[in-house]
Amino acid sequence: MKNIVALVSGGGTNLQALIDAEKRGEIKGGKITCVISSKPDVYALERAKQNEIPSVVIPRKNYTDSKSYSEAILAELKRQNADLIVLAGFMTILDECVTREYPYKIINVHPALIPSFCGEGFYGLKVHQAALEYGVKVSGATIHFVNEKADAGAIILQGTVNVANDETPESLQKKIMENVEWKLLPKAVSLFCEDRITIRDGKAYVEDSEQ
Ligand code: GAR
Repeated sequence: MKNIVALVSGGGTNLQALIDAEKRGEIKGGKITCVISSKPDVYALERAKQNEIPSVVIPRKNYTDSKSYSEAILAELKRQNADLIVLAGFMTILDECVTREYPYKIINVHPALIPSFCGEGFYGLKVHQAALEYGVKVSGATIHFVNEKADAGAIILQGTVNVANDETPESLQKKIMENVEWKLLPKAVSLFCEDRITIRDGKAYVEDSEQ
């Protein structure tokens, strides 16, 4: 069984999707063993508590820079014997001291079709605002490995939704979460835990992919 450590910063609906998938037996070969939050008092921590998953709060505001914060995160990941780290709505960019230690072992969910609307400054509702301002007709979410550059690691899965004429950032966020993120994140995590993701030339390939 692989130890899955989820990193969160907010409401934790993606964490909930992982918990629900695990309960349904859909995370084959892995178990969520710890939740680490960058903020106290977020609902994601309540979800961990309700499901008896140990949690740790490492507040981002207690650290002056990304490097010292990332070192604290790294120490906790080692303490937790993490095999897979899932950024499930984690709003802090991790320094390369973490990404170097866990190559192709950190998975992120980004609420747009990478390489569009991604990178530093693109997170949460800002991503959907930018997509609507551009006038895209299709958007979606990307599940990818994390490397030293923001939102630039190998893509594992992507899914799309159509953008309606009267779409708002909030409605687009909801549509993408419900139709893509909550389905593809647990799927990618299970594929990882079953060793069904292969890396060739820096790209990720899913074995027996239906996509
Ligand atoms: C999700 O839409 C996730 O894709 C996004 O924030 C939301 C978190 O929701 N993540 C990012 O923007 C990361 N760059 P949640 O806390 O309910 O899972």
